[in-house]
Amino acid sequence: MKQPLSLSSKATCNTHGQDSSYFLGWQEYEKDPYDEIHNQGGIIQMGLAENQLSFDLLESWLSENPNVAGFKGNHGELIFRELALFQDYHGRLSFKQAMVKFMAELRGNKVSFDPSKLVLTAGATSANETLMFCLAEKGDAILVPTPYYPGFDRDLKWRTGAEIVPIHCTSSNRFKVTSSALEQAYREAHSLDLNVKAVLVTNPSNPLGTTMTRKELSLLMDFVIDKEIHLVSDEIYSGTVFGPPSFVSIMEVLDERKYDGHDVWDRVHVVYSLSKDLGLPGFRVGAIYSNNEYVVAAATKMSSFGLVSSQTQHFLSVLLSDDKFTCNYIEENKQRLKLRHSLLVSGLSSAGICCLESNSGLFCWVDMRHLLSSNTFEAEMELWRKIVFRVKLNISPGSSCHCTEPGWFRLCFANMSEATLDVAMRRIKEFVAEIVVTRPGNPASNNQRPSHSRPLTSFRSPLSKKSLAKWVFRLSLHDGRER
Ligand SMILES: Cc1ncc(COP(=O)(O)O)c(C=O)c1O
Repeated sequence: MKQPLSLSSKATCNTHGQDSSYFLGWQEYEKDPYDEIHNQGGIIQMGLAENQLSFDLLESWLSENPNVAGFKGNHGELIFRELALFQDYHGRLSFKQAMVKFMAELRGNKVSFDPSKLVLTAGATSANETLMFCLAEKGDAILVPTPYYPGFDRDLKWRTGAEIVPIHCTSSNRFKVTSSALEQAYREAHSLDLNVKAVLVTNPSNPLGTTMTRKELSLLMDFVIDKEIHLVSDEIYSGTVFGPPSFVSIMEVLDERKYDGHDVWDRVHVVYSLSKDLGLPGFRVGAIYSNNEYVVAAATKMSSFGLVSSQTQHFLSVLLSDDKFTCNYIEENKQRLKLRHSLLVSGLSSAGICCLESNSGLFCWVDMRHLLSSNTFEAEMELWRKIVFRVKLNISPGSSCHCTEPGWFRLCFANMSEATLDVAMRRIKEFVAEIVVTRPGNPASNNQRPSHSRPLTSFRSPLSKKSLAKWVFRLSLHDGRER
């Protein structure tokens, strides 16, 4: 597209990431979306981390509480005008109170949150960017473990000018963050003349679907103490933990270590949103939680650019204050996610495909390395194109999450019906069987191999570890990706 001369560099630069392969799959899906009745040959959307499993619980609550949607207060009085008039950027206290209650409940009430330390934002997207505006700018780096949520390139870098330097994690230890990977990323940032300002982790992880252990969190805490930098924990999936080990919030570690009064107390920040746990991404409700009064004050002022509407705040304050509802919803939603997750894992397993063992999230991190024609990212894209265009499943390639190993894909399971998931599993099984049959000299009869065993395919021209790392870093710096 020809660049209009009179626009700003921000408006015309290409770092937003909407041209990435990740979006191509979405565009293809939009052209030909699967429908159980009207378009059975269409593309099934497995690239969207949306939670549609518990809508009935929200809808039945709404039908039992008609006043809320009818702009009426507790006693049936009309509150339309109150909601329609000016809202200042501090947000409604009743909503902030309900939100912190819900956040504590999701953490088993092991930590409590103070509503005055909560900043409301239009989703976690806005929360992450606002926090970055508070912590970093051009010349600064944020260290982020790979693989990571593709939207971070947009949210953390695009408008703030900061850079992401990846902390490379690999399948050799189930993609866990290690001390040497942290130190290496720190050195890498310095060699690029970047000033490291923070480590940002997603716990539970998107795209891994795993929770961080206390040990890992302690390691991160020690690292940020040592380097005197910030720690941001994006806990947007905290309510999706359906299996052991249970979720540990970074705020719990801060409390347990009795860090109140220590410098680091002010340098740990949590990002949250109702997009995943409640399945409400369209409502745009997110938050930053921080003990740092300067961050809270600055972020509150900045939140003017992305407030949550009063109407939404009112609705959610009533919903989330209902203890009976929240308690039942949290448990029921987890059970449904657990069941769905097991259907995906067993469906893939019957096609000879393994997933990284996981206990949370709305997706699985799937190992398709044995289906690659070579151990390269080109082969990953080749396989991805086949899966999107021929198998008609829109899935996300690991390279869009900056994974350093070709052959991993993210598959979402909570944005469709069980019947649609079933169709997707049948399609993938047929596809794998077809590959195995058509591949000359393949030990086809034995495709039920565990992920850690040698791939069926022989690898051509493998990239060295160093060139892979360079490739992923280049992607991170220059090629933004999207959710
Ligand atoms: C880790 C992570 N952070 C932030 C977001 C953005 O969420 P929201 O819809 O609340 O802006 C997502 C969405 O997929 C995500 O996975």
